[in-house]
Amino acid sequence: AMDSGVARRAIPDWEQYHLELERRVGIDQKLMTRIIGRARQNPQRVVFAEADNYKILKAAQILQDENIAIPILLGNRAIIKQIIRDNYLELHECEIIDIYEETERLERYGNLLYDKRKRKGITAFEGKKMMLDRNYFGAMMVETGEADALISGLTKDYAKTIKPALQVIGVADNVNRVAGMYVIINNKQPYFFSDTTVNDNPTADELVDIIGLTADKVQFFDVEPRIAILSYSNFGSNKGELPDKMIAATQKAKNKYPHLVIDGEMQANIALNPKMLQENYPFSELAETGANTLIFPDLASGNIAYKLVQEIGGAEAIGPILMGMRKPVHVLQLGSSIREIINMVAIAVVEAQTSKTITQENTSV
Ligand code: ACO
Repeated sequence: AMDSGVARRAIPDWEQYHLELERRVGIDQKLMTRIIGRARQNPQRVVFAEADNYKILKAAQILQDENIAIPILLGNRAIIKQIIRDNYLELHECEIIDIYEETERLERYGNLLYDKRKRKGITAFEGKKMMLDRNYFGAMMVETGEADALISGLTKDYAKTIKPALQVIGVADNVNRVAGMYVIINNKQPYFFSDTTVNDNPTADELVDIIGLTADKVQFFDVEPRIAILSYSNFGSNKGELPDKMIAATQKAKNKYPHLVIDGEMQANIALNPKMLQENYPFSELAETGANTLIFPDLASGNIAYKLVQEIGGAEAIGPILMGMRKPVHVLQLGSSIREIINMVAIAVVEAQTSKTITQENTSV
């Protein structure tokens, strides 16, 4: 039967499959193993806005087989089916939504968007037209509770993909600005980098918000944040607009979050090297252990830093984890790998579980 052609159909060799999965999701990394384990306890519906793509479908297959998520595939039905067939994927049970077949939803979602944005210059006609964009449609599925989380961004630029989510879903209560974090894992421990994806040049006050969101997200991974506020100077060694901003952010953040370990401003190597801290800055709150959470002065430094450690440093980068949205949405980095997609979905599933619990608690009070 091996040469009948039919035999090419994916007959899973389970041992091989699990080794492959371990490689993909980095099971050696305890941090993601825990998240994936939590996701599997109660898989949530994750809508993929770019499902007519091999990497997304392959990730969906693994997520479904491993019971991490319930994928919903948004895209051109014929193309999705073709990719499934060509690659012998087993996604026949998976829900496919082709927007052009969704007359009722287009109408309903369009009206909802119009309602939300009629005082922001959008007409009812435009609202419906915008729903033909899958990032709007997918965000509206999450907004209405017809899906629990949205994953997009694999093939489009980040800014264009995040805007529909901001307009449709928006920020969580008590949050001013969203921001993006990366988890960087080397063979020693995880590090958390923020803001790596959203805010171009945050003020000291905006940095304080970013620090709060980041601390929460680090705790989401069961890690206690030890936060360094980064600069090209150490504790006032250089004067200048950027060091001054980071000094102000440090002071304000210490006042606002007295329970957190925060210090700065400091250079990145000092933050990560307890020996250098002890020798030169023994007064620092971080002197004993060094930092595991790095707050960057602006988008350029944060974005460039994480991409450098990923490419040169050979560290595993998990993200970008979008923080501060009212419901789970993640915009992938252009060209993310299947493994990166799986990691982001697992995170979104656990976030969806958590936000549902909170909503239930609030409504039952
Ligand atoms: N947090 C919360 N809400 C926001 C934020 C934010 N950081 N930024 C904008 N918004 C809101 C706006 O208030 C607005 O709300 P409203 O329309 O209801 O009033 C809505 O989102 C849309 O805002 P716009 O003005 O249309 O968008 P803006 O021009 O502010 O752009 C964006 C927002 C796209 C996030 C912008 O800040 C940006 O381009 N950031 C950089 C993205 C980027 O290029 N990252 C680097 C690459 S990412 C990577 O490498 C993976």
